[in-house]
Amino acid sequence: RSGRICVVGSANADLVVRTRVLPKPGETVAGGELQLLPGGKSANQAAAAGRLGGRVTLVGAVGDDAYGRMLIDSLEASGVDVAGLAVRDDATTGTAMIAVDERGENFIIVSSAANGLVDEAAVDARADAIADADVLGLSFEIPMGAIIRASEIARANGTTVVLNPSPFALPPVELLANVDILVLNEHELGQLSGLDPDAPLEAHAPALAALGVGRAVVTLGANGAALLVAETTADAAAVTLVDAPRVEAVDTTGCGDAFTGALLLGLSAGDDLLASTRTACAVGAIAATAVGAQSSYPFADELEAFLRERGGAPTA
Ligand code: RIB
Ligand code: NA
Repeated sequence: RSGRICVVGSANADLVVRTRVLPKPGETVAGGELQLLPGGKSANQAAAAGRLGGRVTLVGAVGDDAYGRMLIDSLEASGVDVAGLAVRDDATTGTAMIAVDERGENFIIVSSAANGLVDEAAVDARADAIADADVLGLSFEIPMGAIIRASEIARANGTTVVLNPSPFALPPVELLANVDILVLNEHELGQLSGLDPDAPLEAHAPALAALGVGRAVVTLGANGAALLVAETTADAAAVTLVDAPRVEAVDTTGCGDAFTGALLLGLSAGDDLLASTRTACAVGAIAATAVGAQSSYPFADELEAFLRERGGAPTA
């Protein structure tokens, strides 16, 4: 065990405006001040793990521009090793246009830019970072070929693969073959299993097992998460519910990424999936209480203080 985490994927500059209500198609609404904040699903996951004290490397790409420099600076301040983040002069940094309403709900439109250039060769060039890690985090904001390649390197080197299939696309079978743990919401679970997302959680287990996925962590928003064990070797599936601490939601952008990053950290520290999921629920909840994605993620001392205040279980 190296205690290392590798995240392969996206980094975006988030352009965030708050509005009272989200606009409908064709509608114009007034918004507040434009904020420029560090984002991107994979960068967010890496930042969450880094802030909690994880040894984390991000593999991806930004452009040679002000947004790219903003991301590099903020990731470093969150304790992320950015040596694997290529600075490309042939693309701009990825951006996300984000609107957040009064209730903290959002919509997000991503323009991938440099993230779209992260290909198999770019992953191969950083194969050592994947091989050296205990756990690899993947999500769907870079080309699928690169994601599959990263999973293959992980599989060949005994690195645990955690896949967050978001923004949702059906994962190719050659990727699922290398995935150890899926992290997804109920909507994504329904799309993957082909069942109604309102079906009882255990009903999805056979479909996951048929896809070759042994374990899934299903995020349930304010209701926490469920651990779904669907090992193909077992004939019974098990569901374990984990509550999230109650918080006042200000901005839920990137809460799922905070959750996944905390889960990666727990696994890299040798915690089991249930303990890691408990920590992840607390970190996801804290992320909802402040503006932005990475900017809302707790450092280790902030998580400890939060858990102490709530009388929650210690993290280790
Ligand atoms: O999950 C939230 C993230 O999605 C934002 O930070 C945005 O950049 C998009 O990637
Ligand atoms: Na937030």
